Amino acid sequence: MTPPPPRLEIRNLRRAFNGRAVVDDVSFAIQPGQVTCLLGPSGCGKSTTLRMIAGVEMQDSGEIYVDGQLVCDTVFRLPPERREIGLMFQDFALFPHLSVADNVAFGLKKGSKAEKRARVVELLTRVDLMRFIDGYPHQLSGGEQQRVALARALAPKPKIMLMDEPFSGLDNRLRDGIRDDTLTILKEADTAVLLVTHEPEEALRMADEIALMRDGQIVQRGAPYNVYTRPVDRAAVSFFSDSNVLQARVSGALAHTPFGRFLAPGVADGTEVNIVFRPQHVRIDFDRNGTGPKPTASDGTAARGVVERARFMGSESLVEFRMDYDGSVLRATVPNVFLPQPGTVMWLTIRRDRCFVFDA
Ligand SMILES: Nc1ncnc2c1ncn2[C@@H]1O[C@H](COP(=O)(O)OP(=O)(O)OP(=O)(O)O)[C@@H](O)[C@H]1O
Ligand SMILES: [Mg+2]
Repeated sequence: MTPPPPRLEIRNLRRAFNGRAVVDDVSFAIQPGQVTCLLGPSGCGKSTTLRMIAGVEMQDSGEIYVDGQLVCDTVFRLPPERREIGLMFQDFALFPHLSVADNVAFGLKKGSKAEKRARVVELLTRVDLMRFIDGYPHQLSGGEQQRVALARALAPKPKIMLMDEPFSGLDNRLRDGIRDDTLTILKEADTAVLLVTHEPEEALRMADEIALMRDGQIVQRGAPYNVYTRPVDRAAVSFFSDSNVLQARVSGALAHTPFGRFLAPGVADGTEVNIVFRPQHVRIDFDRNGTGPKPTASDGTAARGVVERARFMGSESLVEFRMDYDGSVLRATVPNVFLPQPGTVMWLTIRRDRCFVFDA
């Protein structure tokens, strides 16, 4: 038996403005019930990709399929309202002159009055807003309005939901709850979701798959854990978290650094590499009258540095060191509170299994 086609598939999508490709050969597929996050910095082409799928922007080349059916290429174009795609944007603007019930019913074209009412009640119950059914948008808080917008987008049972930074207008505490509720509802409905965001935390929290986008291209795709722990390049590391970089030169498949040697399999002698690691993978030891720690061979070598600054960040502390070997700054994080005085001498080792070696 051949597996069913993906709910949404885009192939080789391209769009240029004034001769500059802002979406450059983008392809991916999303299964029913799957959440894919299109993650990338401002201006990388996320919204343009979404707008082409929605049908409000036309691609220069490439195709869009829903359940294996062609929805749009450069010749054929199914109008947006026939694509069975739901949309939620940051400025989700409810209609101010319509009641909450009428806002939710807005997209319901088919069915009797009673059937529409039943669907509205079902959705408002689901987003826990039945008490506002006859209210108006201005009587609702931002988070409540967001949930009405979600109910409105879900009402016609779209096969696909496209969401463009839909949570960015909400305060932090409200946002976490609404994100999780939204996800639950979309999964229950078996909707394929494409969520655009420039916040890595949001993507890690929401996504089954992250598609990391940069300059119009998808540079990496995978489950959040894989994208985070096996980044393709230095920029992919620093997009998700703060990072440290050591420069080194390779000889005999080893990169030589003040922290010892790092494996650089398959890298030619003389190549300059960057060894990239996150602050949480730096280990700190006390000076012990100048002897420092005694790392095992697998720990590499400890390097000496002086505390320049230490800050408490809530769940962890961030300590910055001025390193003896070249005067550069390395950042380390430590769980809970650890606030050594500036000027304190300490020794650093790196979790070698958590380092990434990239060509410089
Ligand atoms: N209609 C247009 N005409 C000209 N340039 C455009 C048009 N729409 C988008 N662009 C350009 O295309 C690039 C990508 O825009 P897009 O809105 O897709 O970015 P984004 O990834 O959604 O960014 P953000 O995170 O800031 O929303 C930007 O440089 C933008 O200026
Ligand atoms: Mg955008």
